Amino acid sequence: MKITYYGHACFGLEDGKSSILIDPWLKGNPLVKHVPEGLRPDLILVSHGHHDHLGDAVEIAKESGATIISTPEVCHYCAKQDAKIDPVHYGGTLKFDFAAVSVVPAWHSSSITIGEERIYAGNPCGFVIRFGEKVIYHAGDTCLYGDMSLIAERFVLDYALLPIGDRFTMGPEDGLRAVRLLRPRVVIPMHYDTWDRIVQDVEAFRKVVEARTISKCLVMKPGTIHQD
Ligand code: NI
Ligand code: MN
Repeated sequence: MKITYYGHACFGLEDGKSSILIDPWLKGNPLVKHVPEGLRPDLILVSHGHHDHLGDAVEIAKESGATIISTPEVCHYCAKQDAKIDPVHYGGTLKFDFAAVSVVPAWHSSSITIGEERIYAGNPCGFVIRFGEKVIYHAGDTCLYGDMSLIAERFVLDYALLPIGDRFTMGPEDGLRAVRLLRPRVVIPMHYDTWDRIVQDVEAFRKVVEARTISKCLVMKPGTIHQD
């Protein structure tokens, strides 16, 4: 299984046959030096409607025929733009022959900006993805919350992709507490250093996670691939 970190909250998962793209904000993402072309994911997971997560989902879905998986409100918006959708909500699991995608809460907000208007986009979410014999939790945008321990009760996580940028999501201190609740084999920090307002010392975060938890911390540079 291959994990590609495109930057911010955008990740790709591939197992050699199938692929999943998560929060595909590529165009206009300051961390993406070269926008990849011709992406052909089977599924596109969108944690919420904010532009840095919904990103290019509709365009990629229409070009590739991929299905967008998100909450009913975000899916409704995407379907109106003629993208293929598969709506789901907290507690739900979608099963495919190559993956299972479970939806968990994220404490945040969700809206879609269209011109000068902001439309309601339901609740934001996170995903637990069983794919390529691994279990990956993508937290979306969220603060720390105690029910992350319920995720760890149900799933033995190989990877937890956690925001640490602060301001719009949890920062490094609560990120560390989230790692303690989730107990993943590996934590990959995300949603930091994209803008001045979410700059973090990721190396300090890595050190503290590895000193104080059982988890490894993998810092991925945008545009790089991790093979497991
Ligand atoms: Ni957001
Ligand atoms: Mn965000």
